[in-house]
Amino acid sequence: MASTQGPEVPANLKARLEATYDAIAVTYNKVFADENDPFRGKYTSQMLHFLQQNAPEKASVLELGCGAGVPGTRMLLESKSPEIHVIGNDFSSGQIDLAHQRLGKYEEAGRLEFKKGDMMSLEFPRESFDAAVGFYSIIHLPRDEQTELVNRVVKWLKPGGLLLANFDQKEFNNKVNSKWLDHEKGWAYWSGWGEEGSAKMVEEAGLNILVKEVSRCETDATFVWIIARKPWMGDR
Ligand SMILES: C[S@@+](CC[C@H](N)C(=O)[O-])C[C@H]1O[C@@H](n2cnc3c(N)ncnc32)[C@H](O)[C@@H]1O
Repeated sequence: MASTQGPEVPANLKARLEATYDAIAVTYNKVFADENDPFRGKYTSQMLHFLQQNAPEKASVLELGCGAGVPGTRMLLESKSPEIHVIGNDFSSGQIDLAHQRLGKYEEAGRLEFKKGDMMSLEFPRESFDAAVGFYSIIHLPRDEQTELVNRVVKWLKPGGLLLANFDQKEFNNKVNSKWLDHEKGWAYWSGWGEEGSAKMVEEAGLNILVKEVSRCETDATFVWIIARKPWMGDR
């Protein structure tokens, strides 16, 4: 496998990854958008359970790197209690086009909107969301950006708000695969603070961890899944 590890963040990282996902969107979703994916489903159910404890009738959820919207975004939108409004962010038009096709009915119902672009360029007022999720997406950011993003997410969450995300279990600084999924245009990049480092990042950003579990994915990577809650007012 054409894979390298090194200290340098590749030049034009975001543009290259965006082009990759535009090119591989159909392939990626054939391989990974498993309707019955056990991990997205399991941890989304757990996150929804915690969200129900906050008892909102309606909830607003930010999804970072939502991809083609199945199964992750759809699971959120299928929640009846609370009814969820999703803002789905992704920088790949290829992925978002597929998401429009699959989840158009939720857009028409005013329960789904997309914000296309680098998740690091997102801006929201403080306390905008009941939850933020990132399935297999924050792992594509350089590590310092992962830390910065989690800190921003904490500001965007309401008190008691939840973060659900997975991070690479292994600690490594910049990994590139030039033909991920054996695709000619499958140039890809990941980084990670590892199991303990990712938990530390989340806690240092001010969240309390409710779930931290290592689950081996259908790929060759193993991830730590974290659900964490922003303290209620005066809770810290
Ligand atoms: C591995 S896919 C996961 C997609 C979806 N969340 C899922 O569970 O199938 C990663 C997604 O994150 C998006 N992505 C990666 N880096 C991003 C960034 N910096 N800003 C926005 N989207 C990004 C990619 O375009 C891709 O759709």
